[in-house]
Amino acid sequence: MLKRVKELREQIRYHNYRYYVLADPIISDGEYDALLRELRQLETQYPELVSPDSPTQRAGAPPAAEFPRVEHPAPILSLDNAAAGDDVRAWRERIAKLLPPNTPLGFVAEPKIDGLTVVLHYREGLFTLGATRGDGVAGEEITANLRTLRQLPLRIPPHPDGPLPPPYLVVRGEAFMTVADFERFNQQQEEKTFANPRNAAAGSLRQLDSRITARRPLSLFCYAVVYWEGEPAPPATQWETLQYLQALGFPVAEASRRFDDLEGAIRYSEAWGEKRDALPYEADGMVIKVDELRVAEELGTVGRAPRGAIAFKFPAREATTRLLDIRVNVGRIGTLTPYAVLEPISIGGVTVRRATLHNFPYIAERDIRVGDRVVVKRAGDVIPQIVGPVKDVRSGDERPYEPPTHCPVCGEPADSAPEEVARYCVNAACPAQLVRRIGHFASRGAMDITTLGEKTAIQLVEEGLVQDVADLYRLQAEDLVDLEGFAEKKAANLVDGIAASREQPFSRVLTGLGIRHVGATVAELLARHFGSLDALAAATEDELADVAGVGPRIAEAVVEWFRRPRHRQIVEKLRQAGVRLVQETEEARPQPLAGLAFVITGTLSRPREDVAAWIEARGGKVTGSVSAKTDYLVIGENPGGTKYRKAAALGVAMIDEARLQELTAATTKGEQQLRLPLE
Ligand code: IVH
Repeated sequence: MLKRVKELREQIRYHNYRYYVLADPIISDGEYDALLRELRQLETQYPELVSPDSPTQRAGAPPAAEFPRVEHPAPILSLDNAAAGDDVRAWRERIAKLLPPNTPLGFVAEPKIDGLTVVLHYREGLFTLGATRGDGVAGEEITANLRTLRQLPLRIPPHPDGPLPPPYLVVRGEAFMTVADFERFNQQQEEKTFANPRNAAAGSLRQLDSRITARRPLSLFCYAVVYWEGEPAPPATQWETLQYLQALGFPVAEASRRFDDLEGAIRYSEAWGEKRDALPYEADGMVIKVDELRVAEELGTVGRAPRGAIAFKFPAREATTRLLDIRVNVGRIGTLTPYAVLEPISIGGVTVRRATLHNFPYIAERDIRVGDRVVVKRAGDVIPQIVGPVKDVRSGDERPYEPPTHCPVCGEPADSAPEEVARYCVNAACPAQLVRRIGHFASRGAMDITTLGEKTAIQLVEEGLVQDVADLYRLQAEDLVDLEGFAEKKAANLVDGIAASREQPFSRVLTGLGIRHVGATVAELLARHFGSLDALAAATEDELADVAGVGPRIAEAVVEWFRRPRHRQIVEKLRQAGVRLVQETEEARPQPLAGLAFVITGTLSRPREDVAAWIEARGGKVTGSVSAKTDYLVIGENPGGTKYRKAAALGVAMIDEARLQELTAATTKGEQQLRLPLE
């Protein structure tokens, strides 16, 4: 039995590594789950066989009383900063003076990830201890929490052919949350939200109950050896260190590069500064390191920073300005959301006038007051946000903020569920809500009525032409021509656009209803599982929560939605309007992509899950990584490194979203399937 347990662990460890570190799985999720299930079963049956490095132990352990202190085997240093290329050149001049003349220097540039330093101890290849940086001399022991990180190898190397580590190895890395994981996570958080990925990562790692950490989407990159004892000899350069760590199964930042001259490293770092939003994680700069470790060591330290490395910071994306007012927006389900009106300020070349304040507790937790100087952050495409007030410069005239007791649009009392942060306008007839609901119904991820924008929605509501989304299907061109800005053509386009949306699949109708927590992905799951709106409406909370990917919160929201007579009435009106309330059977829908395997990379116009569902509904298969079996790589903006390179190397056809549509249209008409050429 022990043999089988060991075998299973070895296999699971290897597949974990393929999946989480290489992002290149070679077995299906189902096959993986089967291995894990078998191992769990054996371990339940024979508890004496459970060991701390077993892949089953990532679920976390019961709470610790506090974090014990651990001394680091060598100081965990920090870095000096450079703001411009010339500061980096000056750094090089300074260190050149300390070295024998003409010492050749190579450099490695790595992203400086905004996370939390972790120190990982491995004895005989086994992860035995993990700690935070603390004061650099000693940190807090957070082994149980770190064990839950999927990318952290519990045993190295990841497969029997890997290089053998020395008997005692201590590695330094950075634990963090990717921007996408952070956004998803913060959305799911009902109570405390985090201001940024760094805080979320730090908060997650400092949980006394590691079962909580296990549920947080944490990632890891490793970049240095802190301590090395025994054979073989350690790598001689930083570049070899990264390669060696990678070979041992540690995740290493892909964007790291080696340069023979400093100018190359500076150019490379500046280039990342320009496109930092293409990185999946927040980086506040690049670290440029002397490649030869012996030389770096000889250079020694100044204060707590090594002379052999420097942080080349990206330009700031935060600035401070005055908070002029706090106003409230009414969302489609009546959620009242506060936003900031700011004294205009330029951040990274863009003038910012408004910023999100997330929710009312966010304002209270940070004690944000009207009139405060506030730190505003703008990153890429995301809505600018208020990080917090600068309390030191308060004059005393700032006014604390009280959340509204009434809806700012319809004036009806606002409500808040006891356990939730949000406040709602519960007036189903509130015009602001109706406008948002119509906007949502017509949006791209739902019924995709491109001729119905927000301005039109406002007009329709103000004129009393629609009282709910189903009324849209009753609109006639005559009703519209008198509206401001509506000539005959525009009226006809709107009516046609609405009529055409009857063809949208059931899952999109479901998305369009705007049930809380039911976005495109959940709608697709529910549509597939229940097959019709009537079946969904009849489902109990338990039946709903049983569907994979649907939790109790979603289940409750769905049941609650259908409980309301008003909503049932909308459903009946939609049925009469001829909108699809039944899932099309897979066979009924043409399967133009049958037999084709797709991989998706980069940012697309819709969430990746949606594009994947779209492809699968047309018979295609979507996998997470490129292999010889991949037919097409679908590319969005800023395509990711590994998939793109691998596809290029294998000669896999690359297409954008438009070509994907064309491909579906072409093959639907029965034309021969062709592999589009590489662009
Ligand atoms: S090297 C002696 N490399 O940035 C080694 N640091 O102020 C010094 N960081 O606290 C650190 N990514 O947590 C290094 N690729 C990277 C890094 C990195 C992030 C963090 C690290 C440190 C801070 C430096």
